[in-house]
Amino acid sequence: VSEDTKTDTLSDRSVAAVAEFIKSGRAKQIVVMTGAGISTAAGIPDFRSPNTGLYNNLARLDLPHPEAVFEIDFFRYNPRPFYVLAKELYPGNFHPTISHAFVALLAKKKLLRMLFTQNIDCLERAAGVPPELIVEAHGSFATQRCIDCKTPFPDAEMRKCVESASPPNCVRKECGGLVKPDIVFFGEQLPNTFFANATVPREADLVIVVGTSLMVHPFAGLPRLARDGVPRLLFNMERVGDFGTRADDVLYLGECDDGIRKLVDELGWGDELEKMWVEL
Ligand code: APR
Repeated sequence: VSEDTKTDTLSDRSVAAVAEFIKSGRAKQIVVMTGAGISTAAGIPDFRSPNTGLYNNLARLDLPHPEAVFEIDFFRYNPRPFYVLAKELYPGNFHPTISHAFVALLAKKKLLRMLFTQNIDCLERAAGVPPELIVEAHGSFATQRCIDCKTPFPDAEMRKCVESASPPNCVRKECGGLVKPDIVFFGEQLPNTFFANATVPREADLVIVVGTSLMVHPFAGLPRLARDGVPRLLFNMERVGDFGTRADDVLYLGECDDGIRKLVDELGWGDELEKMWVEL
């Protein structure tokens, strides 16, 4: 095998070459990593995009700085801004995108090893990705508990409190602590499932990253765990992380839904994906 093909697993650094690689059967352990950019087409703003990003639109909440809305110390001091935002972001009002459906299709085809997501919108679950193949690295709105004694808080009760943007207190009267969804705030530990699966990216034979600035660690370190020679495909508006530094990095810089549709068409999965998405 000549030297120059050793590092280039792909025929060239294009979406079509990745499709060829998948069709060749050499991608059976695909690891997908997603951020807020995969859900913007669903109507959920991301965090850092200029103008539309959440952190540029929280002035109405009178925060010391935008990230404070997700900081545990600020939440203890004043939980109201978070609950105002929670009302806007709460799952149930949004529909999975074609990109979410693509991840579910990979799972259906037994090609998905794991999905790591930073998102708290549960759209991956709604798209039909099997829960055992999802690592919600920053938690989600799915459950909630007292931040002091950790006693779980009832779901139905929580939905009412979020609807009225009124922060609930612990079910245990003698505690009375504030209740927060199981979203990982700045200053909090990531869930155990993240650390239990943190070496999974080393098993990948293809890594696909969608819609993230790769600014927040330790999640941002995941793409670097891919072994040399394993193709890494980025669907993002901008270049992020260390993408582009490896011979088998493929960068699609644009709307992720367009890039994923291009990959899916090259794979010949277009009809199957559209049908699956429509039925969600
Ligand atoms: N198509 C492709 N890329 C997109 C799209 C889109 N439709 N919309 C946004 N993007 C890109 C943006 O250009 C940006 O690079 O997605 C990325 C989103 O980055 P962030 O807003 O920083 O979101 P994310 O990376 O998920 O943030 C990580 O930060 O605030 C914390 O815990 C929070 O999980 C979050 C973490």
